[in-house]
Amino acid sequence: MSGLFITFEGLDGSGKTTQLQRLAASLAADGHRVVTLRQPGGTALGDRIRSVLLDSKSEAELGAIAPEAELALMFADRAQSLKQVILPALDEGSIVLCDRYTDSSEAYQGAGRELGADRVLALHQAVCNGIQPQLTVLLLPPLEKSLARARRRNERHIRKTGSDENRFEREGEIFYRRVHEQYETIARREPQRVEVFAEEASIESIAERILDVVHKRLER
Ligand code: TMP
Repeated sequence: MSGLFITFEGLDGSGKTTQLQRLAASLAADGHRVVTLRQPGGTALGDRIRSVLLDSKSEAELGAIAPEAELALMFADRAQSLKQVILPALDEGSIVLCDRYTDSSEAYQGAGRELGADRVLALHQAVCNGIQPQLTVLLLPPLEKSLARARRRNERHIRKTGSDENRFEREGEIFYRRVHEQYETIARREPQRVEVFAEEASIESIAERILDVVHKRLER
């Protein structure tokens, strides 16, 4: 792996996708080769898995998705994107920016669905060979703010496409509180890898700080 692998994490509506896009644009303008992708998604197989997992109509067609099945599908998506996109891009020296990765499974399935972090990490070892990013940008503004933003975003998405991606966003506040707390646990456990942006600063100032952190990693 000669490139740099960076993941973006946070609750739905935390602003991570906006920050990922800004970082991608800044790095590309500096002349870096940048590859961006999201999980679930980012490959043809992953896009199919994404629509099964995220569309709230899925359950009407397929029946309730078992939490264990949800976890396994997240890792099926991840295995495919590692092999097809992430590892080849890192091998050719690109900077890979991935919108969500295993921390999301630990937070949402491990804590949110209460399957347990240990189970998720064991699966990560088995399926992803334990491959972790060198840097994770964790956007963790106050929970209420993220939830309100996610709801607005989903309403826009329904108006635009007629379909929704809110199977997760229907979850209640208790679910999201567990997710939020697990992200805090991950950040405390792995301070070298995880940089937390928790305060309510402007998009511009957070973008500048993220770029700063990434420049420092590139100098290492
Ligand atoms: P996003 O692409 O808008 O961030 O949404 C993806 C949704 O999928 C979000 O609600 C979190 C959820 N998710 C998991 O529950 N586990 C995972 O491992 C991943 C990658 C996403």
